[in-house]
Amino acid sequence: MTTLKLQPNKAENQSYNLSNYQESIEGFSWQEVEKQFSWYQSGKVNMAHECIDRHVEDGYGDKIGLHFLNDEEEIKYTFSQLKDKTDHLATVLKNNGVQKGDIVFIFLPKNPDCYIAMIAAVKIGAVVGPLFEAFMEEAIRDRISDCNGRYLITDSDLVKRVPKGDLPTLEKIFITAETEHCEDGEISLKEELRRTKSDENVTEWLDLEDRLNIHYTSGSTGKPKGIIHAHRAMIQQYQTGKWVLDIQEDDVYWCTAHPGWVTGTVYAIFAPWLNRATIVLYGGRFDADSWYSTIEKTKVTVWYSAPTAFRMLKAEGDTILQQYDLSSLRHLLSVGEPLNPEVIHWGIEKLGKRIHDTWWMTETGAQLIVNLPSEVIKPGSMGRPFPGIEVAILDDEGTKQPHGQIGHLSIKAPWPAIMREVWKNKDKYDSYFQFGDWYLSGDLAFQDEEGYIFFQGRSDDMINSSGERIGPFEVESKLIEHEAVAEAGVIGKPDPLRGEIVKAFIVLKKGYENSPLLIDEIRKFVRYKLAAHAAPREIEVLEELPKTKISGKLLRRELKALEQNRLQSN
Ligand code: PRX
Repeated sequence: MTTLKLQPNKAENQSYNLSNYQESIEGFSWQEVEKQFSWYQSGKVNMAHECIDRHVEDGYGDKIGLHFLNDEEEIKYTFSQLKDKTDHLATVLKNNGVQKGDIVFIFLPKNPDCYIAMIAAVKIGAVVGPLFEAFMEEAIRDRISDCNGRYLITDSDLVKRVPKGDLPTLEKIFITAETEHCEDGEISLKEELRRTKSDENVTEWLDLEDRLNIHYTSGSTGKPKGIIHAHRAMIQQYQTGKWVLDIQEDDVYWCTAHPGWVTGTVYAIFAPWLNRATIVLYGGRFDADSWYSTIEKTKVTVWYSAPTAFRMLKAEGDTILQQYDLSSLRHLLSVGEPLNPEVIHWGIEKLGKRIHDTWWMTETGAQLIVNLPSEVIKPGSMGRPFPGIEVAILDDEGTKQPHGQIGHLSIKAPWPAIMREVWKNKDKYDSYFQFGDWYLSGDLAFQDEEGYIFFQGRSDDMINSSGERIGPFEVESKLIEHEAVAEAGVIGKPDPLRGEIVKAFIVLKKGYENSPLLIDEIRKFVRYKLAAHAAPREIEVLEELPKTKISGKLLRRELKALEQNRLQSN
């Protein structure tokens, strides 16, 4: 097979934290990485301490840790200020009864309150559960009720989407606003902070195996599952931040994801702060002007985003691009969905930089397959295994496949960031390990002779739209709650911009007529009940859905084939 090879960016005086992949593999050990943490000496473990407080202790208190901006304001926080703010909020939470191991959900937009709340909760040993800001009532209810959540931090706007009446275990709702903007039973954090003296020794010392965070993630069956990580994940999050993000002392780092998605927690907050980076946080929605202007204003050097975002920027054209000075950029990365070679070529042509694809999943806790800045990129490949990570392509029986053969992308467990458990669902956890200690990702891929891995799709029905993971079952369940819908089958339909879009096939109940008005109403029903990103962009009415003859189980694969055939015949 001949593949195009793109050589590393050769800027003058550019050196990378990892200069030689092959050499790093040979001498690599995770135990060596552990020596970078303050707990290696002190025995006192806490991710929040390693992200913020230790930098203050090490003399970097005046360094900017967070540079927030949106269309109205711009605020900078030093690491000292971040320590003070997270200590103070942690004290408030602790005084309000939050203890080690309690789950604290955080439902906030991308703003400093959100980042500070994440670190403050972790500081006192709570398990932080960030919720995506586009979630509506039922997505929130499913997640909080699944783990009997007792605490929630949100704002006076988003709280309107929290179905309090359906969440009897929810004891305290903290609102970031003043008391007059809080309803009965809600606690104003502004007020609490004013009357609470901060305890600068509030940090709870933990074990590496203690729970750190919970991310609900969709699969092809059932409701979203709670994936729990442990504090040990920091070992790998730090090292990938160092070698893959290549964070260096003067870098200004921007990851565009919201913490409700695992990338927005691990690579927008934890990994860069473990590496003492200045993090940029842009608080608005996607918009080419605002994004380019964020890079120009804050002088972003390392930028981690997703293929759909790059494709959207590409589609906006050159005129807008030329209005901004993007020369600060030195290292670009992508994650979440296949990075098509055209986008890599656009990056080289228009931004003068290669885009480095990376692969991982919520369950893996950190990047596992990567393109390093010092190494050759093969467009179309997700890269090679990170040092210390062993990858195999297995067939249906668990036998290793030769180079070039497509099979199940599998990783030898354990690695430091691998999930600790699936919340109250051991069967689900075990389902990833059908072949002993090989973790089955659910992705299909092949590996070439030089170790590069090429993504080939999913082995199940999970949908990936704009890098966001959507479970068809969740959308189908919502659709059939609509009074006009008798049956529903949901698939990912290939889409040039979003990778896939959510497409629903429905059968209407007797007495209902197919009309644009009804279809629009059904789409909005999903949008406003579940979440905007999960609402079908296309809804098609069928007389009946394809099902298995014996058990009557929905055959999504046939719906997918129907779409593929249409695309091919167009
Ligand atoms: O199918 C793969 C796809 O996203 C899935 C994981 O989704 P999630 O848990 O939401 O995590 C996303 C970001 C960490 C994978 O099973 N995926 C992730 N990265 C890539 C990818 N598909 C193709 N190329 C990638 N680089």
